[in-house]
Amino acid sequence: MADLSLDLCGVKLKNPVIAASGTFGFGREFDELYDIGQLGGISVKGLSLKPRTGNPPSRIAETPSGMLNSVGLQNPGVDSFVENDLPWLLTKNVAVIANITGTCVEEYCGMAERLAPTGVHLLEMNISCPNVHEGGVAFGVKPESVYAITKAVKAVSRQPLIVKLTPNVADITENALAAQEAGADAISMINTLTGIAVDVHRRCMILKNNTGGLSGPAVRPVALRMVWQSAQKVKIPIIGMGGIETGEDAAAFMLCGAKAVMVGTANFTDPFACPKIIKELDAYCEAQGVARAQELVGTLRAY
Ligand code: FUM
Repeated sequence: MADLSLDLCGVKLKNPVIAASGTFGFGREFDELYDIGQLGGISVKGLSLKPRTGNPPSRIAETPSGMLNSVGLQNPGVDSFVENDLPWLLTKNVAVIANITGTCVEEYCGMAERLAPTGVHLLEMNISCPNVHEGGVAFGVKPESVYAITKAVKAVSRQPLIVKLTPNVADITENALAAQEAGADAISMINTLTGIAVDVHRRCMILKNNTGGLSGPAVRPVALRMVWQSAQKVKIPIIGMGGIETGEDAAAFMLCGAKAVMVGTANFTDPFACPKIIKELDAYCEAQGVARAQELVGTLRAY
């Protein structure tokens, strides 16, 4: 077996495979199928200060090699998470990443303050959700606002801060750099690409919100390109995601410069995707004669 372990911003992970926010709930349903302690980490569904019911249906559409979602950050609120889900998650021997959202800078800071005294290991600041009218991606498009919100939240965070970036910009590396300059400990990329789905028979939109976020294998080449470009620019760790379905997909992100990866949409098509990817990454390392998976990071060669 290869050594898959890593240190992510001072937190020990047994492997680089993390369940992506919004695709894994708080882990309970998956733990009925396999021990979620096998995973490197879990990024929980995006949390807000108050509970949110999310957007009205229809809010999911299947697309070629992917899906569109317009969930709208449905979640039970941070207090419910801290009281009902976190104590259970902390018994699972897995890194717990709290994905935090807000409608204004004060709310993002309030989330970081609320989670500061808890056992959460890392924060992932979601400034890239395309499905809400207030907050979300509004903070994640311009490098100046990425810088400002990262600086403000970092100042009150006790856990290492990961900033989750949107691909819906001209040059994601500018935002990666802005996050780094403002003190982010890591960045995760990419959130979903904005798209629409059309019902030609009814001649109308499929999603009630009109637009949704595209994820799944369809976005993988875009995500790989963005991780690779950002890795040339920033020194902080990158967590890569976008359509990962196999161990070799995970390895591709690591070769492009990702220290760890997040697996999202694949959890819907195969609930065993994460443990399968861990096994396949191990087999890939063995086949490549790589003793430590971290040796792969950023070693992609030109053609
Ligand atoms: O709409 C949603 O809940 C999605 C969130 C995200 O893409 O960050």
